[in-house]
Amino acid sequence: IYSQYTEDCRTGMYPPNGPTFRGAVSWYTVDLNLPPSKRWTALITEKKADLVNMIQAIRDLANAFVPSGRLIELVDITLPLMVDTLPHPFSDEIKGIAAVSGIPLGEVVLFNIFYEVFTVCTSIVAEDDKVKMILHHWDVKNKSWIISEKLKPLVVNLDFKRNNQTVFKSTNFAGYVGMLTGIKPHIFTLTMNERFSLDGGYIGILEWILGKRDGMWMSFLTRSVLENANSYEEAKTRLAQTKLLAPAYFILGGNQTGQGCIITRSRLLSIDLLEIDQKLGRWFVLETNYDHWEEPLFLDDRRTPAMKCMNQTTQKGISLKTMYDVLSTKPVLNKLTTYTTLMQVSEGKLESYIRDCPNPCMPW
Ligand SMILES: *[C@@H]1O[C@H](CO)[C@@H](O)[C@H](O)[C@H]1NC(C)=O
Ligand SMILES: *[C@@H]1O[C@H](CO)[C@@H](O)[C@H](O)[C@H]1NC(C)=O
Ligand SMILES: *[C@@H]1O[C@H](CO)[C@@H](O)[C@H](O)[C@H]1NC(C)=O
Ligand SMILES: *[C@@H]1O[C@H](CO)[C@@H](O)[C@H](O)[C@H]1NC(C)=O
Repeated sequence: IYSQYTEDCRTGMYPPNGPTFRGAVSWYTVDLNLPPSKRWTALITEKKADLVNMIQAIRDLANAFVPSGRLIELVDITLPLMVDTLPHPFSDEIKGIAAVSGIPLGEVVLFNIFYEVFTVCTSIVAEDDKVKMILHHWDVKNKSWIISEKLKPLVVNLDFKRNNQTVFKSTNFAGYVGMLTGIKPHIFTLTMNERFSLDGGYIGILEWILGKRDGMWMSFLTRSVLENANSYEEAKTRLAQTKLLAPAYFILGGNQTGQGCIITRSRLLSIDLLEIDQKLGRWFVLETNYDHWEEPLFLDDRRTPAMKCMNQTTQKGISLKTMYDVLSTKPVLNKLTTYTTLMQVSEGKLESYIRDCPNPCMPW
């Protein structure tokens, strides 16, 4: 049954073309010198219709669960009360987005929470003798194809500037103020993957809603590290030690040999660190959404095929081009794949591509 959904490692997919390539991602500047409430005005003005469309899909989903419309009513009443408990600058940025888009504040907050909870990804950091690369691939969990489709027009590349200088770059969704993946040019690259764990996937979020608010949203930490950390070591320490609302994986790459790691997090602390180690022949580290020391769920094994293709590529053959091939191989590429990002720290390069997976293709 599976054979038609899996394939031999792809080659020659780059530059992106053909039916798995929907289109390039456009660049926008976010000026960090502006007050938080104004930073997103230009982007949201342009993307307003797509964002409204996306929020409507979330509303429909909520109304499918609770047909009376009570769930959205609750969102509209309660979430605006919580926006001020979000740390600076996130609360003002979210209010700014609601004001410009005309979308009720509670629903913008919901959109920002929603993707904390519903994402799956494949991330790889690899090293040859000159460069460090990271590759990231963002999917939406379960068969939410509608959501996945509605998200594609919202995918944007962001250049965050202060005093007219790039601070970091990211691929993200318009209307979402946390970050999932990004690069601090010449210093480090970072991506966040969701970790489904018994020690409290959703408990922290529930606690936050109920008023216990000492943990940080994962995507807010990712953004804060991209914005404020100035070295690989500083980023690593903050990612390992900041208390979180939910477990997560952070995939970090630096600019020196050996600087590439997966930090496996519980809500409280780092429980495992897997680093690139040339002496052990470990020239890349790879993370999907399962602890690296455990078997992945057999229905969702993107790790084995991705590893197989990395092994076939070899350290000598690795480049952004061949990394793109790895992530274009089914089922690493699947129906829920929204975009693929390639980053190279030494050149400060970030490029992203919106993806499609024509049939036959794994639904997740
Ligand atoms: C996916 O999630 C949506 C809403 O969260 C739910 O309605 C749907 O049944 C889920 N599908 C699967 C296959 O789990
Ligand atoms: C900002 O930088 C760009 C090039 O990086 C330059 O063309 C532009 O004049 C600068 N703007 C200001 C206000 O300094
Ligand atoms: C590598 O990162 C460090 C900060 O961790 C920075 O001081 C150094 O200039 C960077 N090296 C290169 C070649 O960019
Ligand atoms: C890839 O190579 C590593 C190191 O040689 C090995 O441990 C791993 O089992 C290989 N994985 C696959 C799927 O080929």
